Amino acid sequence: MPIHRSPDIRSADITDERLYVSRREFLGSLAGAGVLLSAGERRAIARMLGTADPADKLTPWEVVTGYNNFYEFGTAKDDPAAYAATLRPRPWKVRVEGEVARPADYDLDAILAMGTAEERVYRHRCVEAWSMVVPWLGIPLRTIVSRLEPTSRAKYIEFTTLRDPVQMPGQKSGILPWPYVEGLRLDEAMHPLPLLVTGVYGKPLPNQNGAPLRLVVPWKYGFKGGKSIVKIRFTTRQPANTWNVAAPDEYGFYANVNPAVDHPRWSQARERRLGEFYKRPTLPFNGYGEQVAGLYVGMDLKANF
Ligand code: MTE
Repeated sequence: MPIHRSPDIRSADITDERLYVSRREFLGSLAGAGVLLSAGERRAIARMLGTADPADKLTPWEVVTGYNNFYEFGTAKDDPAAYAATLRPRPWKVRVEGEVARPADYDLDAILAMGTAEERVYRHRCVEAWSMVVPWLGIPLRTIVSRLEPTSRAKYIEFTTLRDPVQMPGQKSGILPWPYVEGLRLDEAMHPLPLLVTGVYGKPLPNQNGAPLRLVVPWKYGFKGGKSIVKIRFTTRQPANTWNVAAPDEYGFYANVNPAVDHPRWSQARERRLGEFYKRPTLPFNGYGEQVAGLYVGMDLKANF
């Protein structure tokens, strides 16, 4: 079994690019299929990277980047890896608009310059009761939101994916209304956990995972992780998120993982972690209840699913 030395990098004081380079070797080595780490190594990595249970084994790179939902490139799980090469993640602009003091068309680099990159391991839970443990790399969403200065009227944020049927041929089909849209309440967005993700396993984000910028909200279903974001809009009203528009009986705005409430077509009580055979109990708020349950006090989470 290979032993990986813990790199002595303080994530608080390194920049995005340096982080890619300096950690590539270390995290790239994890990417080899089936790399097993000792309990001590896992604890060291979890301490360094963030928030997941240290006992969690990382989902292999091949699965994280080969089993995807990204309907702009087809609906089969292996379509995005096969077809997302048509996406050109640079140059990239992000429009910021709505209830915000600093609306503008920002170059991606200007957005990235707003915050220090952080690497975190999240349980990323998708819609059909499967989950992954992914070492995402990104910038805390709240850092960027704070820099953009929402007005006092802003209550929600909407994230919009690129619309370009040439780069994203799946948009020629009507399988979903395009462009893909996601949304958060402002206080959810200001929680320390959500990331605007730019990389995974210490490498720049592959196209199929939503290059060059995607959202990851660890206590919610994977579908809240809008990919290839070109617009961030601050609003007074709850955004119309794509899955809620497409299938309102199945997907709400909140998408908090609630093992006590069945999805209309399947139980949400257990989930299979990709790469494993057995199913494990699903934890409320995907295991982050202690950190986030306070955001929903007084809300009926059966009605606000
Ligand atoms: N973003 C866009 N633009 N289009 C999509 O089809 N699928 C969502 C989410 N973001 C999707 C998207 C769903 S259903 C899931 S489960 C996650 O992306 C999957 O992210 P991953 O492929 O990086 O694991």
